[in-house]
Amino acid sequence: MPEVGNSSQPLLPLAELHCHLEATVEPADALRLAKRHGVDISPVLNGAGGYQWNSFHEFLTVYDAVSEVIRTAEDYFEITYSYFTRMAAKGMIYGEVFVSPAHAGRFGVPYPALVDAVASAMEAAENDAGVVGRIIVTGVRHYGAEHVVEVAQSLSDHPHPYVTGFGLAGDEASGQNVDFAKAFAIARDAGMGLTTHAGEILGPESIRSALEHLGVSRLGHGVRAIEDEGLLMELAVRGVVLEVCPTSNIAIGLYDSIADHPVGVLVEKGQTVTLSSDDPAFFGVDLADEYRFVAEAHGYDDAALCGFTKNAIEAAFCDSQTRERLRSKVEKT
Ligand code: HPA
Ligand code: ZN
Repeated sequence: MPEVGNSSQPLLPLAELHCHLEATVEPADALRLAKRHGVDISPVLNGAGGYQWNSFHEFLTVYDAVSEVIRTAEDYFEITYSYFTRMAAKGMIYGEVFVSPAHAGRFGVPYPALVDAVASAMEAAENDAGVVGRIIVTGVRHYGAEHVVEVAQSLSDHPHPYVTGFGLAGDEASGQNVDFAKAFAIARDAGMGLTTHAGEILGPESIRSALEHLGVSRLGHGVRAIEDEGLLMELAVRGVVLEVCPTSNIAIGLYDSIADHPVGVLVEKGQTVTLSSDDPAFFGVDLADEYRFVAEAHGYDDAALCGFTKNAIEAAFCDSQTRERLRSKVEKT
């Protein structure tokens, strides 16, 4: 019988659609990079070997501070290769990561070099460990709508086969969705799959307006749709896919525990649910843990867990040949 993320074989196949690349850097690796570049990250570390924050806003600040240790294209290659090979060893067959050109740009890594570095690392990880990776280029909401348009324009000006999606991260409560419509239109015209964070910090209205103004097919989180029966119906009819990150929702205080998390109810209500780790190095859990937590809380068997992987593969921002390859990997287990 396949096992979730256990080193004994065979592994249950896992797929992830929502993970911020900068948040895959474990504290020990961040310290190593910090030393390389002469940066002090001690203020954001707690005494127990983890990152330290007390609220969602503080989390975003700490996230920016940790991102400052990633300064060169080589660093981007290193962290991407590390994440994908580590997760392949736990059963991950496909992963999309959010990559933020604004963070890379602060230290002079231009957009094309950033994308080349991350894509090359994904290619190397696929050759070495069989895991497939793709990039969702991401704007940061609280950096403003103009910045997000610039990010979308870079994406449009420099097409790359591994850049298959466009997203919006950061403080969900910053600005209105309509402010970002122009950026999403540019990305849509460039052929990108579209997703945005919505329905985690803010409620159902944020989801409705994301659908209306941004034309997304997936929602980063979207879990607060659970508060609105009509919206749940609409999401089910439209086939909107939820990138559910249980530990992240618990870490920011939206739910008290996995037992209180609505993932099971969302499934029962006909939503297309996928599972992701969001910021694994910040929360001290990875994708395999997320699958395991959800299985334990809801008594899901391997077939049910494989269902999350299949949902992710069907909703993945990848080409049809890659999707077919991934389908056959899951069928073989
Ligand atoms: N939520 C929103 N924005 C982010 C996150 C997150 O978990 N991580 C990095 N940017
Ligand atoms: Zn996120």
